[in-house]
Amino acid sequence: MKVLVVGGGGREHAIVYKLSQSPQVDKIYCAPGNAGIAALAECVDIKVMEFEKLVSFAKEKEIDLTVVAPDDPLVAGAVDAFKAEGLRVFGPEAKAAIIEGSKAFSKDLMKKYNIPSAAYETFDNADDALKYLENAKMPIVLKADGLALGKGVLICNTLEEAKEGVKTIMLDKQFGSAGNKMVIEEFMTGREVSVLLFCDGTNIKAMSSAQDHKRAKDGDQGLNTGGMGNFSPSPFYTEEIKKFCEEKIFKPTMAAMKAEGRDFVGVLFVGLMLTPDGPKVLEYNARFGDPEAQVVLPRLENDIIDVFNACIDGTLDKVDLKFSDEACVCVILASDGYPVKYEKGFKISGLEKFDGKKDYFCFHAGSKFDSEGNIVTNGGRVLGITAKGRDLKEARAKAYEAVEWVDFENKYFRHDIGKAIDEA
Ligand code: AMP
Ligand code: GLY
Repeated sequence: MKVLVVGGGGREHAIVYKLSQSPQVDKIYCAPGNAGIAALAECVDIKVMEFEKLVSFAKEKEIDLTVVAPDDPLVAGAVDAFKAEGLRVFGPEAKAAIIEGSKAFSKDLMKKYNIPSAAYETFDNADDALKYLENAKMPIVLKADGLALGKGVLICNTLEEAKEGVKTIMLDKQFGSAGNKMVIEEFMTGREVSVLLFCDGTNIKAMSSAQDHKRAKDGDQGLNTGGMGNFSPSPFYTEEIKKFCEEKIFKPTMAAMKAEGRDFVGVLFVGLMLTPDGPKVLEYNARFGDPEAQVVLPRLENDIIDVFNACIDGTLDKVDLKFSDEACVCVILASDGYPVKYEKGFKISGLEKFDGKKDYFCFHAGSKFDSEGNIVTNGGRVLGITAKGRDLKEARAKAYEAVEWVDFENKYFRHDIGKAIDEA
């Protein structure tokens, strides 16, 4: 069969890698893809928001299945556009992807259906938000309502910082129209765990857990990013916690979306905080995480085509989802200055060192070919250096070993990805 993957980052590279292992797949296209993905798929010069072009391409090439991976096109209705033309597609429709597209929607959903999460208020103007803050307990969390590349969350320690934050989001519109509305939320403490769920609208199958590192700098300092590295599984996601999450969070979320007429088909990403009062939802995403996909998919033992088909056909209950007992660690090589300002276009050397190495993966997040055919940096996050090991410690050691194999000007990475493993 022929498959089209929409997207062009590390997550899409991991999805393409997994698809390339399926005996059912003859040909993979990726739009727009990147220089790493090009080794496994034919990259097509169409942007993720160009729905008409994507749909025409799928028809012209007689694509059997399209996988829409990034948040923007999902929230804007890419899946709806494919379905309207009778094409087979994996991902939630816009009415379900709103669970990621609007923080106010997801918070209201959780409140209505009693799903544990932080206490919150929603605001559509800065004056009311500023008034509310006068009597609020610090630290406090401000969230732009809409999509902001994982950066629209501000954790404020003082009233002054919080007031400044309201200005940033609602008045200066640093995150654009995502800041037309804002959620102000109670600050929670605890360890974070990400769990990705395959969903068919009714049934869910949870993937193995992962832990992300969202801050740009070592020791969880600096700004929030899309994710600077992660590991899977999380040793803190115990059987007991897993059971609680399945019963009190995952199943109720699926049922809530169904009750609202927004059946969720695709991958639902649940960001959890393991608080002293039990697990609570930090956020939902309507897609595989990036870089969660990079540490979870290499451990998936099923043919991913069978799982995608079961989600689309509503037969996920028949799937026995299996993950290997190994662990996986991913360290992101970024451009220095990410997530604010950074240069790109630098030649990447050493990529060939990954050739033929079992257990090592170099997922490309932001790379492209220059006019001379060299692979150069093309984004804030550049590469996801990933390794599998018998356990987390071995996987981490291997990932940090491989981080040294590649080089480019302004290469930047965190040195403490997986530090929590030592505390387990
Ligand atoms: P989100 O995009 O909503 O997951 O937020 C990004 C990051 O901000 C999370 O991964 C947490 O580290 C942090 N965060 C978000 N909400 C809260 C909260 N209510 N309390 C503490 N930290 C939070
Ligand atoms: N790594 C977090 C995300 O994909 O949103």
